[in-house]
Formats: sequence, C-alpha cells, structure tokens
Amino acid sequence: MAPRGGFSSRIGFIAAAAGSAVGLGNIWGFPFEVGEGGGAAFVVIYLMFCFILCFPVMATEIAIGRKTQKNPVGAFTALGYKNWNWVGKLGILAGILILSFYNVIAGWAFGYIFEMAAGHFGGGEQFGAYTLKIFKVGGYGLAFMATTALVVSRGISGGIEKAAKMLMPTLVVMMLGMVIYSLTLPNAMDGIRFYLVPDFSKINAGVVYNAMGQAFFSLSLGMGALITYGSYVNKKENIVSAAALITLADVGIAVIAGLMIFPLIGFMSGGTMEGAAGGPGLIFVTLPTIFGTLGSIGPLVGTLFFVLLCFAALTSTVSLLEVPVAYAVDELKIRRSRAVWIVAGIIFVIGIPSLLGFGYSDFFSTAFTTYKEGGTDTDFLSFIASVANDSILPLGGCMIAFFAAHVWKKHNLDDELAEGSPNYKGSFVQKYLNFAISYLAPFVLGVVFVLTVLFKFFGISLF
Ligand code: TRP
Repeated sequence: MAPRGGFSSRIGFIAAAAGSAVGLGNIWGFPFEVGEGGGAAFVVIYLMFCFILCFPVMATEIAIGRKTQKNPVGAFTALGYKNWNWVGKLGILAGILILSFYNVIAGWAFGYIFEMAAGHFGGGEQFGAYTLKIFKVGGYGLAFMATTALVVSRGISGGIEKAAKMLMPTLVVMMLGMVIYSLTLPNAMDGIRFYLVPDFSKINAGVVYNAMGQAFFSLSLGMGALITYGSYVNKKENIVSAAALITLADVGIAVIAGLMIFPLIGFMSGGTMEGAAGGPGLIFVTLPTIFGTLGSIGPLVGTLFFVLLCFAALTSTVSLLEVPVAYAVDELKIRRSRAVWIVAGIIFVIGIPSLLGFGYSDFFSTAFTTYKEGGTDTDFLSFIASVANDSILPLGGCMIAFFAAHVWKKHNLDDELAEGSPNYKGSFVQKYLNFAISYLAPFVLGVVFVLTVLFKFFGISLF
C-alpha cells in the first residue's frame, strides 16, 4: 500500500489545524453570536469554554489520531474497539453534512468578491436576489468545491499543509489591515466598547449554550477532523502544546474578526450599535451596506473582506473534505486522487437542497422546521446545520471523551500525550486534562446534546 503521507513540520501541522479551526465560524459566526449574545459578556463565556472544555477534547482527538494513524472509523478499530467505530461513522456523516452547507455559504462569499468589486452594495434586497440566481451561486459553489478538492488531491504536505502555510499568514495580515482601517472611522470606539466591555446582565442560559456550541464548532471538534489531522502527525511533536497553540490561534482570529466588524457597525449606526444583532445576515447584508457608505474606498474594502473570508473558509472546507477522503483511502482502498473527486462531487450534490432553500424552492425554503430562540427556522440549510453542528458534534465529542478516558483508558491517553512532551506526566496540565476528559467533557457535552435535540427538533425547553 502507498504510504499515507504526513505533515512535514510542526508549524505545517499547526497551520493546517488552525486553518481548519479558523473559518466562517470565526468571521461570520462569531461576530453575529457576539452581537446577539449582548457583546463582551458572550466573549468571556466563549473564551472559558474554549480553554476549559474544548482544549482537552482537541488534545484527545489529536492523540487518538496519532496513536492509530487512521481515519476516525479506522481509529476505533485500530485501538481494538470495533464496536465503537459508529462514533467515527457518525463523525464522517457530520463532516459530509457540514461541508454540504458550508460550501454553499463559502460559494456566496466567493461570488461576493465580484459583487463588491463591481460596487454592488444593495444590502438585504441585493442578497435576496443574489441567492435566487441559482445557476450563478451554484456555479460559485461548484468552483469553491473544486478548489477544495484540488488542494486535498495534492495530499497532506503538498496540498493541505502548503495551502495553509500560504493562506493563514495572508489572512492575518489582511485582517489586521482591516482592523486598522475600521478603527479610524468615526464612532469606531462605540463598537469597541460594545464588544469589549462586558455587561453580565445579558447572560442567560441561551447565551451560555450558544457560546458552547460556537466554541465547539469553531475549533472543528466532535467529528474526528482532528483525529484525521492527528493521524498525519509525527511522534516527536508535542500534542498538548500544539493543541494550545491551535486554540489560541482560533480564538485570536475570532477576536480580531470582532475588532474588524464592530467598529464598522459603530460607524454605520452613528454609535448606537443598532444592527449589531443582525444575525446570520450580518456579513452579507449589513457589512456590504456599510462598505457602500465608505465612498471611493468601499469597493476595495469590500473586495478585501470577501477575499479574506474565502481564504479562511478554504482551509476549513479542506479539512472537512479530508475526513471522508481519508476514510475512503484507508478503509475502502480507493486512490486519493480518485476518492477526492468522487466524494467532493457527492457532497456538492447533497448541498443542492441547501442552495435552493432561500426562496428558489418553496419546499426547501419552508418545510424543515427547527426551533430557535424567539422563533423557528424553516429552511433546509438551517435544518441540516442543526442536525450536524448542534446535535452530532456534541454527541461525538461526548463519546470521544468518554471513550478515551473510560474505554481506551486514561493511562493510554497519557502515554500518547507524553510522546514528544517529556514533562507531561505528573504536570498540572495532565491532571486537568484527565479530569476534563473523564468527567467534565462527557457530562457537559452529553447534557448539551440532550437539551439541544429536545429544543431544536421538538421545541421543548427545559431551562
Ligand atoms: N471550524 C470551522 C469554522 O469555524 C469549520 C469546520 C471545519 C469544522 N472543520 C470542521 C467544524 C470540523 C466542525 C468540525 O468555520
């Protein structure tokens, strides 16, 4: 059998994993969650979840991957627990579902590069009309999926690692440029205040809950994406410090995305911050409106913004595609170059209903009720996102943590984490990770899973 390949350096792995984590979730999701969750208080809770709960799960996923050198399904089997590989299968299903709708949004963003360059700043009306042009947005989506497949087909070090090492630094530079520009606008400081000065009276169970889901999704956890990336990591690497760096990078980019966006909202609202809670439309509706008020520099700023959004999305779609591809290569013995295009094609087709659910097809726009705070979503994309992000990911995370601590056993996890980290055993970090993986993560994620399914699909709210 051909060798599986692997990351060529520590920095290459960290760039790729951080690239997976940093995506639409950070730049599109995080700011609107902050806006709806009342600002800085949400940020504080989000940070706590990232470090207390998610970081241990991340280290565990990477350790399972590196130990077994396998995709999420093969990994459970390789450890001797074939009857647990349904967790891996569920993860692969989640990856396929997430990529199917994520690619639709990435495709919109790709097309918006050209809308911005052409100076089309029509806000909500324009966006509504845009999502109805099915062949146009479908074509952008197809182009985005093809780019993703092209990167993945080049393999781990030649494709995924190379792309991440190029795109991630560029992304950071472009974002910092945008932040500096945003901060020079009138009323920028009102945006910063809203964003960074916490008002804890805004915290309620729903906010805590969203912060948890956002942290988990943003860090690419719960479906074995990091088991897969971990399977390409060298035994000499220090997993714990890599996981810490990846978490920091992801949080850092999300924070920077807020610094870029809230001053713009401060500017547009004349300091009242009205519109900060713009929801999922924030990026495609509110921001373009703002770019339209910037005068001659508007098209440039708008184009730059959507280019950087696409860069962030691409390193994430690549990681989502790699999971089912690794499965097809390892378990079904299909050549990578062929597996990539077959899997990408299937996922694109699965994404078509998501594409049609914005008014083009009545059925896919209205027939899929899920509950959310203060109302319901009725389109297919929201429905699939609830199934994958809100249900399968917490369940997967709960099962992965429980498995590692109580089935595979803590001492085996410790042994793997200690490889490449000679001082790990006996350290405070080890004790904390053991506690988090044995008790905290299975419990919290299990509860979140049950509560979410009851609420999202049945409208039953227990808190
Ligand atoms: N973390 C990415 C984002 O924030 C999305 C993503 C990529 C993801 N791979 C994943 C989410 C695996 C969950 C699981 O946009």
